[in-house]
Amino acid sequence: MKIGILSGGGDCGGINALIRAAVHQGEKYGYEMTGIRRGWAGLVEPDTVSLTYEDVEDIVSEGGTILLTSRTNPYKKEGGPELVMKNVKKLGLDALLVIGGEDTQGVAHRLASAGLKFVAAPKTMDNDLSETDVTFGFDSAVNVAVEAIDRVRTTGESHERVMVVEVMGRDAGWVAVHAGIACGAHVVLAPEEPVDLDEVCSVLERRKRAGKKFSLIVAAEGARLANASQSTVGQKLDQFGHPVLRGIGALLASEVTERTGLEAREVVLGHLVRGGPPSAFDRVYATRLGAAAVDLIREGKSDVMVALHGDEVIQVPVEKALKPRKVSLSLLKLAQSFGR
Ligand code: F6P
Repeated sequence: MKIGILSGGGDCGGINALIRAAVHQGEKYGYEMTGIRRGWAGLVEPDTVSLTYEDVEDIVSEGGTILLTSRTNPYKKEGGPELVMKNVKKLGLDALLVIGGEDTQGVAHRLASAGLKFVAAPKTMDNDLSETDVTFGFDSAVNVAVEAIDRVRTTGESHERVMVVEVMGRDAGWVAVHAGIACGAHVVLAPEEPVDLDEVCSVLERRKRAGKKFSLIVAAEGARLANASQSTVGQKLDQFGHPVLRGIGALLASEVTERTGLEAREVVLGHLVRGGPPSAFDRVYATRLGAAAVDLIREGKSDVMVALHGDEVIQVPVEKALKPRKVSLSLLKLAQSFGR
């Protein structure tokens, strides 16, 4: 058996731990393990590397992905899907281990009807896949965000400023909500709900009247101001149709100052929270996923994703996992309730 491993979309903590565990498990069964470089790009134009446990044994703590990644979508290229299938055959790959989020797994799911055999692993710091308790990469991102925001807090407190921290999260505000709660944010803003500037400013004004000029706002990049004159959505789209989101932090900071007279500063955490060494949780979780994915391939399973349910790693249909998972309104309300 020959298994190809690819990672696509944004990187996050834990991908290398997963690759390491998968290679380890594959070798146990005598399988040949092949790394595909730059996600689907490495199958559109074959770019592969042979992987032995010796190659990967020391990468459990490394951030990023040794296989590199891209947002290449074979369906955006004339004859792309056919090329991928042709190359899978040419490379002699019996099955793929697809490490990705909604976009990367979506491609694999579509290719399944053309005969692709694969098992997917839920990779994304955004935590926006369904049918799993959590995606790997999320815990690492939240921990780095919390460490950074704790630092933003002390300088903000000292200068009696409103500090606006912008974190990644295009369609779901998981990182903003978790980091916001963990850091004691007074305002938490997520894409799940349009931002009401009057409400935001009333929290800040109330605190100001109580003698507290410092406030902490944590906003997901995908949070949108209702009736904003300035768009935070870039014009350029990636191959999966996603725009680059930019500027909600800056917009909020300037609006806050204009409306309340409070001094405000914005900090964009961006890629800082996606890179770097994964958390211990993600290292262990990704290791379990990698081993389980190879076991499922061995059992002949396909078009399924390894997932965490309580203490167990199980398999779920990819089609179900791809349903976007949003932050519940009750969790968002809890996060927003500390602005007193
Ligand atoms: O990995 C998903 C994500 O983190 C989104 O939250 C964010 O909008 C996007 O990646 C940014 O990715 P990049 O700038 O690397 O293309």
